Order: sequence, then structure tokens, then C-alpha cells
Amino acid sequence: MRKFYQETIFNNNGNSDVSTTSNEKNLELGIVQLLNELLKKNEIVEIKESLKILLNNKNNKINGNHNISQDDIEKVINSYSLERTKYYIKKIIKSITEIKTTNYNDINLNRWKDYDDIITDSLWVLGKRDNSGAHNGQYWGNFVPQIPNQLMKRYTKKGDWILDPFLGSGTTLIEARKLGRNAIGIELQEEVAQIAQNTINTEKNLYNVKTTVKIGDSSKLDFKQILAEENIDKVQFVIMHPPYWDIIKFSENTEDLSNSKTLDDFLYKIGQITDNSLSILEANRFFILVISDKYYEGEWIPLAFLTMQEILKRKCILKSIIVKNFEETKGKMNQKELWRYRALVGGFYIFKHEYIFLFQKK
Ligand SMILES: C[S@@+](CC[C@H](N)C(=O)[O-])C[C@H]1O[C@@H](n2cnc3c(N)ncnc32)[C@H](O)[C@@H]1O
Repeated sequence: MRKFYQETIFNNNGNSDVSTTSNEKNLELGIVQLLNELLKKNEIVEIKESLKILLNNKNNKINGNHNISQDDIEKVINSYSLERTKYYIKKIIKSITEIKTTNYNDINLNRWKDYDDIITDSLWVLGKRDNSGAHNGQYWGNFVPQIPNQLMKRYTKKGDWILDPFLGSGTTLIEARKLGRNAIGIELQEEVAQIAQNTINTEKNLYNVKTTVKIGDSSKLDFKQILAEENIDKVQFVIMHPPYWDIIKFSENTEDLSNSKTLDDFLYKIGQITDNSLSILEANRFFILVISDKYYEGEWIPLAFLTMQEILKRKCILKSIIVKNFEETKGKMNQKELWRYRALVGGFYIFKHEYIFLFQKK
């Protein structure tokens, strides 16, 4: 999909959140004019000399301009044929004037090298949790904001609707606000939902998006009705971060997935919530599951993969499995030595990773 020069301009992190001012736009359009003048010349030396003069002129701000491919500028200067020189000049013009995106995100593929903040590898070693803005990291069993942040930048557009059927402390909805995505979060526990709503409301709403919190059981709530209340009929992205079965008991409620009596009960309920979520997800859009495996009586239970299999019984394909590191969990805090001893005695390895499964709805 290609759009001619439009209002969304990208900053040097490939972060589409920062809009270019009209002054900057005019400046860039001026640069395009100058570059088009170069294309009319037929002497390679003359073109390169003119470009160097342009680069040395601080007023036009070509040098170091994050919206202009500096890589291509160098290629013009180092090119040997007139054809190649003009080819790279045209590329620079294109990088300023055209936005090429997929239909599921805002990443400008004409400037793909600018997005070094977007992870494309399947091993995520994330540093410290992002505690900026409304996040406080207090909820036991939350995920780091970098997870929904990365995934929403990669798989959603500004203005899209996101569903998180396991809201918890509202990490996804806070990130959705920051990134200009609308979002609906569902949480079984009323008190948890209320605290989340209050926290989410403290995040600045620069893009004037909606972040709606609903209380209830995600396997039973009528998602279509919830969407109707928002005057929409589909969401464009789903991110599921369920309890990892009974590793953390979230409440006494029997509908709580962490109270599932057996693994089959847990998987059955995951299936119901997946059906419910997929019923309102737009076709070809993406669906995330964040989960880990667990130990039970000295045996490694591949909970993550069993849950993945349950989801794959539905109309979706598996696009990626990401392994994400985690450091000390709240449950194991300050017990590093003890767990190392236990691991040596019991012949097992201590969990240091969880999984992010990426599915696409067929
Ligand atoms: C792993 S936590 C989600 C944490 C969240 N990602 C965050 O960053 O705070 C799972 C949440 O799902 C909720 N939950 C459990 N069963 C549920 C159900 N059937 N419907 C809706 N929410 C449920 C729990 O109360 C818990 O808050």
C-alpha cells in the first residue's frame, strides 16, 4: 500500500508518534525540489558537486535529517555511473515523499532502516522494565510494557482497536494509549479492573483514543455486544496474557483460569476465550499469546505448547514463537541461591524464559 506524502512522519526511532511540523514538511518539500533539479543534470561530477554544496548548506538541513536516508546520500556520492547516481537520488526523493506500509502497521518500509527499535529476532532479551508514565509494575503476574509496545508497533496501526481479555493491571491499555491505539480490556476481578482503570486514566491521552475496561469472565461475556457499545464490529489485534494455569492464584473465583482444577479444564477455557476473541478479530490480523511452561511434582509441563496447540485447533496459523527472557520473578525474589541449590538437588533448570506466540487469523 502506498500513500503520497501524508501527515504521519516518522522520527529517527521509526516511531510514528511524532508528527513533523508544517515547517519541517515545507523544508523537506524544498529539498525534494532541489533534488529534482539535480536529476535534470547529465554530468555525474556536476551532480555530485551540487549535492555536496547542498549538504554543506546548513539552511536546508539535508545533513543528518532523520527523514532522509543518509545511507542513500552516501551512495550517491560514491556511485560511479550516472544511472546509479540518479537511481539513489530518486530513492532519497522517495524516502521523503512516499510512505509504503503493510495494511497492518504504520512502519514506513521506504525507511525500514530507521526502525532499529523494532525487534525482528525470535529471542527477546529485554532489559529493565519500562516504568515510564502510568506503569507501576506492582501487579503480581503483570508483563513488561515492552511486550505490548513492541507487538502493537509491529502489528497495529494508529486508531486500530486492541482487545486484551486478561487485563490485570492494564499494561496493554496504557501502552495502547501511548501509541494512539484504542483498546478494550476485560478483567474478572472487579477490584483489579477498577484499579487498572484508574491507573490507565493517569496516562496522557495525546491521541484521544478510547481505553475501555470491562469486568467479567472472558469465556462468557458477549464480546460482540461490548464492541457494539463502542460502535465497532471488529478489533484489529488481540493480546492474551492468561494466568499460567495455577502458578499464580489470582482469586478465589471459580471462573478464574488460575483455579482450573485440571490441565484439560484450563485448556478448555483457553479454547472458549480464543473462540470468543477470534469471533471479533478482523481476518488476517494478529493474535498473541504470552505464557510459560511450568513444573509439577518434578516434571516439566509444556503448558505453553499445549496452550499453543489448543489455539491452533482454531482458524489461525502460527507465525512465530518468541522466547523472552525474564529475570527474578516476584515469587522467587531474593531466593537466587536457594533456587540454584534446589535445581542442583532436583536435576532441573530454573525458568528464565517465557514464550510469545504469534498467530494470524485465517
Ligand atoms: C497474567 S494476568 C494479566 C496481567 C496483565 N498482562 C498485566 O500486565 O497486568 C491474568 C489476569 O487474568 C485475570 N483472569 C483470570 N481468569 C479470567 C477470566 N476467565 N476472564 C477474565 N480475566 C481473567 C486474572 O484476574 C489476572 O488479572
